[in-house]
Amino acid sequence: DNADTFRSALIEWYDANARDLPWRRSPSTYKTVVSEFMLQQTQVKTVLPYFAAWLEAYPDFASLAAASEEQVLKSWEGLGYYSRARNLHKLAQQVAAIPEDKLPTDAKSWLQFPGVGPYAAAAICSISFSDPSAVVDGNVVRILSRLTADQSDYKNSTDAAKAYRALVQELLNLERPGDHNQAMMELGATVCHKQSPNCLLCPVRSLCQGYAQGIAEDLPRLAKT
Ligand code: ADE
Repeated sequence: DNADTFRSALIEWYDANARDLPWRRSPSTYKTVVSEFMLQQTQVKTVLPYFAAWLEAYPDFASLAAASEEQVLKSWEGLGYYSRARNLHKLAQQVAAIPEDKLPTDAKSWLQFPGVGPYAAAAICSISFSDPSAVVDGNVVRILSRLTADQSDYKNSTDAAKAYRALVQELLNLERPGDHNQAMMELGATVCHKQSPNCLLCPVRSLCQGYAQGIAEDLPRLAKT
């Protein structure tokens, strides 16, 4: 069916086109957590040098846990949204205190950690533990509203994200949930742009109602905030 076609076209495209990003090389839970915290409000290009320096200064949860808050905030300087750094530090202290085989692996449990909301929980657990949780972020809303030619008016991104919970979960690749989620982010970041989406390069163009109707660029319809 269409969901199967979508999943396989997306993952094939990702396997051939995924950017070589440092948190994708020999991934670990720690690298996944740090990268997702940094990437929540900051672009990949900006994150890259910070991620490299961070791993030098704090190579694992234990070293981050042992650092002073002052030191941690200093390392975060320039990334902004400092609550992310404070939360990441606290998270490291909590995780470092848990025996490795007792660390929870599902998104619902990860919501308990500081600074981890639905987006980060799904991203971290799918990528790090193959937990079957689908990520819904702005990229995903954009892709799916175009795919379905959804002309609903959404009050805000939270509202829109809610509308796509069910579809996004139905589309999830259960064999490779982490790669599927990253493929959605990648498609949103490199092809299904907000402005002038590059539909000719899109692996799921043949399924895209927004493309067929010539309205992809106008979607999603989100109130300006
Ligand atoms: N944005 C958020 N998480 C990401 C990831 N894992 N790869 C690329 N961009 C991202």
